[in-house]
Amino acid sequence: MNYLLEVRQVSKCYGEERILNDVSLALAPGQALAITGPSGGGKTTLLSIIGLLQQATSGTVLIDGQDTGGLEPRQQTALRAAHFGFVFQRARLIHSLTALENVMVPAWLTREGKAAAARAQELLVRFGLAQRLDYRPQELSLGQLRRVALARALLLSPKVILADEPTNDLDPAAAAEVADSLLETCGRGTGLILVTHDPGLAGRTDRNLCLEQGRLIE
Ligand SMILES: Nc1ncnc2c1ncn2[C@@H]1O[C@H](COP(=O)(O)OP(=O)(O)O)[C@@H](O)[C@H]1O
Ligand SMILES: [Mg+2]
Repeated sequence: MNYLLEVRQVSKCYGEERILNDVSLALAPGQALAITGPSGGGKTTLLSIIGLLQQATSGTVLIDGQDTGGLEPRQQTALRAAHFGFVFQRARLIHSLTALENVMVPAWLTREGKAAAARAQELLVRFGLAQRLDYRPQELSLGQLRRVALARALLLSPKVILADEPTNDLDPAAAAEVADSLLETCGRGTGLILVTHDPGLAGRTDRNLCLEQGRLIE
């Protein structure tokens, strides 16, 4: 089996406190995986270790079968940019830019140029934001902001989307729109790991895991 990524016996300690304890999981192409669990349980920490934003205390993260442990920071950055799209807990959009410009930010870092502009627009249209391309973040609803953030995460066609509570604080209709947009990308072969408290969203993924007291359980 060629997994998009594998987490093998990852533990994470902050000082004396063990936040993750021997966590393992694997993600197949097109698979959507939901992680639930109590607040403070280490869900965001696990996502950031998977996305190479921070290092585990012990254990291994493999991306496309490659052990990431021995990589230089620059190699990790390149792998992160090529492999992952992040939807952070707060959308983290740039307030002085329009929706369309925000979606294009990842391309500014990679010299993709015009192709990226077309793709950014296509993604926003696909997510129902055709009439909002020139709006700035403060002129958009929370659900619309999340969809802009998702479009930005998808711009460079990542193999895996990491989404941290993407439907949090949304009303049911807006949450359903964000969930539809997220799950539709999995139908196209992209893998998805999402952290959520939303049973409706978790119920629509292929696999549900719970992170409790540092352990990941089915
Ligand atoms: N950089 C850090 N330094 C020390 N403790 C941290 C750090 N980041 C997170 N923690 C602690 O790790 C625990 C898990 O946090 P987090 O991964 O954000 O949980 P969750 O996303 O499940 O709510 C919390 O108790 C938090 O205070
Ligand atoms: Mg969190």
